[in-house]
Amino acid sequence: MHRCFDLARLGAGHVSPNPMVGAVLVYEGRIIGEGWHRQYGKAHAEVNCIAAVRDEDRHLIEKSTLYVSLEPCCFQGKTPPCTNLILRSNIKKVVISCLDETPEVRGKGVEILRSAGIEVEVGILEGSPFKPSDFRNTFVAKQRPFIQLKFAQSADGYMGMNGKQVWFSNHFSQVLAHKGRAAFDAILVGTNTALTDNPSLSNRYWPGKSPLRIVLDKQRKVPSDANLLQSTQPTWVVCEKRLAKDNPTDFLHFLALAFDKELLENLLAELFQHRITSLIVEGGATTIRHFMEKELWDEAAIFSTKLRLGGGISAPTPVGVELERLALGGDTLTVIRNQQPKALNFV
Ligand SMILES: NC(=O)c1ccc[n+]([C@@H]2O[C@H](COP(=O)([O-])OP(=O)(O)OC[C@H]3O[C@@H](n4cnc5c(N)ncnc54)[C@H](OP(=O)(O)O)[C@@H]3O)[C@@H](O)[C@H]2O)c1
Ligand SMILES: [Zn+2]
Repeated sequence: MHRCFDLARLGAGHVSPNPMVGAVLVYEGRIIGEGWHRQYGKAHAEVNCIAAVRDEDRHLIEKSTLYVSLEPCCFQGKTPPCTNLILRSNIKKVVISCLDETPEVRGKGVEILRSAGIEVEVGILEGSPFKPSDFRNTFVAKQRPFIQLKFAQSADGYMGMNGKQVWFSNHFSQVLAHKGRAAFDAILVGTNTALTDNPSLSNRYWPGKSPLRIVLDKQRKVPSDANLLQSTQPTWVVCEKRLAKDNPTDFLHFLALAFDKELLENLLAELFQHRITSLIVEGGATTIRHFMEKELWDEAAIFSTKLRLGGGISAPTPVGVELERLALGGDTLTVIRNQQPKALNFV
């Protein structure tokens, strides 16, 4: 299943709003085929996996076990149902990590396979961090993107100094953070971060697509020469209605929203409408706390460094289950999963 996850992630940045999915076919401990969902609207992982089996191994397909990171689909979408392919291929055992929360599937894929006499196991590695099906399942079940809070903190619990940019994390952490950016559809910062750090929010240290940038800028304080507003990648400026009059360009869009108690819900509903399945909230502390107060987050990725600041902006403390702790050449990445993430039910 770990191999399925690795394969699935090769689709990052290419398949949204479809899920990243990986599949391997195993005969007596040997992988005879593997595949992943490579491109939105194109063949699913199971199809690519079975097609990859060499001619001399094809007679083994029906004696093999199919491992797949997400429940096989069972309806005609842009491609035919994968359950049909599995039945036609005479595979007797299927091992699945997560059920597919898409309303047309949600356990029906498993049901179809089981009622045809196939042995099906579900739930393998379901509690893993960065599970490839998280984006899609959150998107369809909660009607909002999967939300990751991401920040770096000093050894004494600060994430910045007022009005001054401080570099914390080492290069390993930055590379990993940029790898994450390449997988997510969108990335958001608050006004102060845009002003203080002048971030580009691109993924310079990892190949792949840069995410849609979003800045919460009620009063349009971020100057037009800010890195964020340059035409390198699509960007939304969320501001008050009276300031959202500029004509949008191909890359810059002014989104008028009321800056009231429902701001985040309304923004997430807008992202849902635009089929954005994943969002990184990259700071600062105030913005992250707004998401935390509403339980509008799924996972926190915290890069802890050895640097001591001795004062400044206190880092938030997201509470949840620790999924992972990773040493990164002096820094530590901790991944925390929220146990009560909120859904949006706007429709
Ligand atoms: N260590 C890290 O990983 C990291 C990451 C990012 C930033 N930082 C640091 O953090 C500092 C900035 O943090 P900060 O807490 O001062 O500011 P921030 O979160 O970047 O920005 C806060 C401002 O954004 C707007 N905003 C955010 N959420 C909102 C909401 N739900 N509703 C309405 N407005 C919202 C408000 O602007 P208005 O008040 O103007 O309306 C608010 O004052 C900087 O020093 C930066 O260097 C550190
Ligand atoms: Zn399928």
